[in-house]
Amino acid sequence: MLIIEHDDEFEYLRHIDGDVFLIDENAYKHFKSHFDSYKIIKIPSGEESKSMSNLEQIIKKLLKFNLRRNQMIVGVGGGVVTDIAAFLASVYKRGTKLGLVPTTLLAQVDASIGGKSGVNFQDYKNLIGTFKTPEYIYVNRFFLNTLPREELKNGMAEVIKYGLIYDEKIMNWLIENDLKSILKDDTLFEKIISRSANIKSEIVAHDPFDVGFRKILNFGHTLGHAIELLYNISHGQAVSIGMSFGMEFSHLKGDISSDELMSFYKIVNAYNMQYKYDFVVDDVAKIVSQDKKSSYEKIEFILLKAIGEPYIFNTDIIEFKSVCHEVLKLWKERA
Ligand SMILES: NC(=O)c1ccc[n+]([C@@H]2O[C@H](COP(=O)([O-])OP(=O)(O)OC[C@H]3O[C@@H](n4cnc5c(N)ncnc54)[C@H](O)[C@@H]3O)[C@@H](O)[C@H]2O)c1
Repeated sequence: MLIIEHDDEFEYLRHIDGDVFLIDENAYKHFKSHFDSYKIIKIPSGEESKSMSNLEQIIKKLLKFNLRRNQMIVGVGGGVVTDIAAFLASVYKRGTKLGLVPTTLLAQVDASIGGKSGVNFQDYKNLIGTFKTPEYIYVNRFFLNTLPREELKNGMAEVIKYGLIYDEKIMNWLIENDLKSILKDDTLFEKIISRSANIKSEIVAHDPFDVGFRKILNFGHTLGHAIELLYNISHGQAVSIGMSFGMEFSHLKGDISSDELMSFYKIVNAYNMQYKYDFVVDDVAKIVSQDKKSSYEKIEFILLKAIGEPYIFNTDIIEFKSVCHEVLKLWKERA
């Protein structure tokens, strides 16, 4: 159940169900008073918290709290904590109940929605995971007041993606505004969050186990992940560059029109997102061909016939590299 509340007193949160709360350390710093009556396990900020050794520490604490299988683990934080909570709620004593309180934009519009959990093993990100449906996801835009700007942009990249792959309304809101005006207008920002979260739920409902339709959510992510990994660029900016690549690729194929391409560039400028990067084609191609979503013979790419019309395009490494060179050339001209 998706609960969206607009209340800076977090009224609903006072009565929320839950037995042990896993809370991101920064979210705890800012919103401590809302959780102090619960049993709490603080989770250090950062991807390292999704490691096996950290999970072991958390499990020891769950045991100390004597958490039983008919009780509820609640994850409060960004995608790191919602992923950990969802994973442990799937496997601890063969599964407990789960509640999620996402406190980053990325988690509110993406990570907490869709029933997937993922934790890391050695250098493999999200190698181990489960599908787990939470009892509730509590979303409140006021959590985002304390979020650093770069973290907001990580979430904005996903919002832009929903506009491009799925939703005219989001496209229009994005085109008529910019990052500053959205952040100043609580009502509009909340509408954007709520619509994005609902779009993700809708897409996931068509394909809960991620075998087909849901792949459209990978728009911008295949190239984005490779760039994020190679060049230490934030997730949101890398996805934005990946979407820019997807738009240019679709335009080269004669699908996306010049006007649509220009609308896209207008949006990425208005939201201070990066749209190009001078990457090394061979390095990126190597990572893209190893992506767990692709098989060895083919690279699956989400492209757009038009804005709002995504499809899966199967390409091979030779074509992919040649498109990369063409897009890099086009980006140079778009100085
Ligand atoms: N399960 C899924 O379907 C899914 C989908 C997308 C992403 N993810 C996962 O999500 C993770 C990324 O999530 P993220 O971008 O939210 O990052 P994150 O959880 O690392 O949070 C980002 C930063 O914001 C801080 N923070 C959280 N809430 C805050 C608040 N209200 N005020 C101030 N600071 C706050 C955190 O301490 C952290 O430093 C990745 O591990 C990724 O794999 C999962």
